[in-house]
Amino acid sequence: MQSGRASNERSLHAYGRDQLQRLWRAIHRSEAPKCVLQVFDALLPVNAVPKGWDSFVSDDHSPYEFSLLLGGAEPEIRVLAEPLPPQDPTTRVTMAHVQACGRATAETLRREFGADLSRFDAVADLFLPKHGARGPFAVWFAASFDAQGSPSFKAYLNPQVHGPHEAPRLVEEMLHRLGFPGAWSTIVRAMPRGPHLDELRFVSLDLAAGHEARVKVYGFHRQGTLHDMVRVAGAVPNAAPELVESFCGMLSGGHGILSERAPASCLAFVGGHATPRTVTSYIPVRAFAGDDAEARVRLVRAMSALGIASAPVESALESLAPRALDAGSGLIAWAGLRTGQAPRVNVYLAPTALGDQVRHRSIAPGPDSDCPSVVIQHCEHAPITAHPLLQRIQRDPHNLRTLALLMLNVRRSITRDFARRLARVVAAVEEDGIRSLLVKQLNDELGDGDPTRLHKDLFERFIIGLMPWLPSPIPDEVLAPGEAFARVQDELYCERSPYEGLGAALIMEIYGKQFDLFVGDQFRRASDPLPPDVLEWLTLHEALEVEHVDEATVLARSIPAGRKSRLAARGARELADAAWAFLDGAYRVCYP
Ligand code: TRP
Repeated sequence: MQSGRASNERSLHAYGRDQLQRLWRAIHRSEAPKCVLQVFDALLPVNAVPKGWDSFVSDDHSPYEFSLLLGGAEPEIRVLAEPLPPQDPTTRVTMAHVQACGRATAETLRREFGADLSRFDAVADLFLPKHGARGPFAVWFAASFDAQGSPSFKAYLNPQVHGPHEAPRLVEEMLHRLGFPGAWSTIVRAMPRGPHLDELRFVSLDLAAGHEARVKVYGFHRQGTLHDMVRVAGAVPNAAPELVESFCGMLSGGHGILSERAPASCLAFVGGHATPRTVTSYIPVRAFAGDDAEARVRLVRAMSALGIASAPVESALESLAPRALDAGSGLIAWAGLRTGQAPRVNVYLAPTALGDQVRHRSIAPGPDSDCPSVVIQHCEHAPITAHPLLQRIQRDPHNLRTLALLMLNVRRSITRDFARRLARVVAAVEEDGIRSLLVKQLNDELGDGDPTRLHKDLFERFIIGLMPWLPSPIPDEVLAPGEAFARVQDELYCERSPYEGLGAALIMEIYGKQFDLFVGDQFRRASDPLPPDVLEWLTLHEALEVEHVDEATVLARSIPAGRKSRLAARGARELADAAWAFLDGAYRVCYP
């Protein structure tokens, strides 16, 4: 058992290095090779100090963590660390510091240990932007050592550097640049609950050249269940969903919603393939076990069910634990099961170098409050145009086939039934003030008393103009996203309380504006644009939506507080999620 912590007299570096030496002896029964310690020195330099920087690597803000990979011929010891600038008692560590330090550490790993930075360099501008970076970290590095101490490296990057809603776009673009064009669709199918429930928090790259170098994407399943984890495993050809279920069940201790702390899944892609090679399913066992003694019991049981020896975990714990296992929780931070190939277990051991308490705040914002104007603000701030499908359309050369497939689905899900749905809400709300604002939108939609100006018919003309770019006949699966989104809207507008329909209508206006303006720009990119009468619906909407958005805010404010407001917020959130899922589906149709 170890004692004491890093302190003024004892640097983090010295403390961690000592731990690594003890861990090495415990696992390999020999002294840590020189090279292992040199790598540690590069990851956590002698003078590195996290002054004012709450590292997210560990619960107590220690900027490093050990882990073991078990189930192979020999256990692998690994170190994860956050690059930090050298000690300067006057300045606090900032995002700019850790970004610069991250780049410098990458360079050191290349120069001194032969790490390959080609893929890191190819995406660094996405994840280490000069301006506006936010979130709990910029870049971390991990080294894993074989039994001889020879290292391999990984870089972890933060897809939420521009905020959580930009994460899908960054991950999709990264996969593209690295030569994995089909991988994004797999991720969405595996983690379909949308960006705030299946939250993308990390990506990692093997800093190695060649076909076998992995690109990994980590999703955290907020309010998730074992079912969500099993579904991710289902996306990997040789994964073992039943092992994932039993392993995660044993560690979390049940089948309910894992709301104490989100479990996570990692999909590892290699060789440009759309299907992942492996999946790792992680349980933050410290949040469920009560104390480390119980966490250890659960882990040992789960490992023995897999036929993987747990003796190394026992020795590692003995070498690192600063206290009795039943005297606290958090030393065994996470346990993960990797399947897709022969099963491996990952165990993450907190160094508790700075303390033995949970100090970091959760990085993700909580659910929107129960007020529709908050949801509206959120949607203004996190626009639907951040969706990877729209980002890809913008990035790729102009392509009318893609736009036509998208608009065909918009017709199926929205324009075909929009007036009917909105009219239902108009009829059912109790406040005439709200009805007045809604009916103005409805009236615009219906051509202001001129049946030849029905927007639906103008939209039909638009679609007819796009026919040459559409498949004929149109296969059912092409319309599946539109069908699904239509069902959600029918339910929200027509079967729920009128205030849920109202909330949905508000978000339709916000997203509608963002979407129409976006689509307008895309159609105008054509070197040979479609004729004006085909584009009339679009031109009209670009103008109208702008007006309606301000009305949406006014409307939201006029909903009475309390029950009606809560219902409207609920409808708004559900519609926003469904719109996102609609574009997820359209992505698969456009880029099969
Ligand atoms: N400390 C962070 C967390 O608990 C990040 C982290 C460190 C992590 N090691 C991990 C996440 C292992 C998942 C698995 O979320």
